[in-house]
Amino acid sequence: MDIEKYIKSRAAAVNAALPRFVAALRDSDPRLAGAMTYSLAAGGKRLRPVLMGASYEIFGGKASEILPAACALEMVHTYSLVHDDLPAMDDDDLRRGRPTSHKVYGEALAILAGDALLTDAFTVLLSSRYPARVKPAGLLAAARVLARRAGARGMVSGQAADLAAEGFLRGKVTPARRKAGLQLLSYIHLHKTADLITAAVEMGAALAGAPEKDFRALSAFGRDIGLCFQVADDILDVVGDKKKLGKSGSDARNKKLTYASLLGVPEARARAEALMRKALPALARARGAAGPKAALAGIAEFVYRREN
Ligand code: IPE
Ligand code: IPE
Ligand code: MG
Ligand code: MG
Ligand code: MG
Repeated sequence: MDIEKYIKSRAAAVNAALPRFVAALRDSDPRLAGAMTYSLAAGGKRLRPVLMGASYEIFGGKASEILPAACALEMVHTYSLVHDDLPAMDDDDLRRGRPTSHKVYGEALAILAGDALLTDAFTVLLSSRYPARVKPAGLLAAARVLARRAGARGMVSGQAADLAAEGFLRGKVTPARRKAGLQLLSYIHLHKTADLITAAVEMGAALAGAPEKDFRALSAFGRDIGLCFQVADDILDVVGDKKKLGKSGSDARNKKLTYASLLGVPEARARAEALMRKALPALARARGAAGPKAALAGIAEFVYRREN
C-alpha cells in the first residue's frame, strides 16, 4: 500500500468538508468565521481524521459515513494549534505554511477562533446525520472520548505541563535530573499530543460500536503512535526542512524540554522507532478487516519517518 497516497486521498474528503461545516454555522460573526476557516483551510496532514476513518472501517463501515466526526476532531486539533502558536504560548509566526492566526487576525480574534473551533466541534459531531450503523450510544461514547482527551485530563494538561517545563534544562543535567526530565516528558507527550491521536482511533471504534477488547487494543495503538508522533515532531523541530514543515521551529528559542533537547537527536530517533514498533502488536490484537488494519500499520510507519 502506498500510504502517502492513501493519506492524501482520505485527506481530500476532509479538506472538502471542513469549510462547509463552518459555513453551516449560520449567524456567526463573519470575521470569526473567516479566522476559523483560515486555520482549517490552511491544510495540514489530516492525520487524525484519516486515523479515525481507518479505525471505523476495521468494523465494517465506510470512512465517509463518519466524516462529520472526523472533521470535529480536526477542528479540536486546529484550535489547539491556533492557541499553541499564541504569543503567550509558543509565540510562532508560521503554521501550515502561512502566517499564524494571531498574525493575521490579532490575538483576541485568534483566541476566539480557537474557542469557537473547540465548541463547534461538538456542534458538528452531535448535530450531523450518520447512517443507522452508528448507534446513539456509539455517538455518545465518541463525544465522551473527545471531551475527555481534549480537556483537563488530556491535551490541555499536556500543554500546561509543556509550558511549565520550559527552561527545565537550564541547569546541569545530572543522571537524576535526566530521569526526572524523562518522566516529565512522558507526561507532556502523552497528553499534549498522544491524547488527540488516541481519540482518533477510539472515536472510530466507538462510532462503529466496536467490542471493548478491540477498542482497548486500538487505544493502546493510538497512544504509542501518538507518543512516536511527538518525538518525531521534536526531532523535526531541530533537523526538519522548515519549508516542508510549514512552521519555523521554536523549541530552542523557548527552551523546551523535548526528547531531542534532553537526549540528542540520535537517541530520540531510536525512541521514536521503538514506539512505532511497540504500537504494531497492539494493532494486531484488534480483530476486524485486514485492509484498514494494514492502513493503520502504514500510518504508524509514516508517523515515524515523516518529513512534515
Ligand atoms: C502538530 O500536529 C502539533 C502536534 C501535536 C505535534 P500535526 O503535525 O498533525 O499538524 P498538521 O495538522 O499536519 O498541521
Ligand atoms: C503542540 O506541540 C501540541 C498541541 C498543539 C496540542 P508543539 O508545540 O510541539 O507543536 P508544534 O511544533 O508547534 O506544531
Ligand atoms: Mg507547544
Ligand atoms: Mg508549538
Ligand atoms: Mg513541535
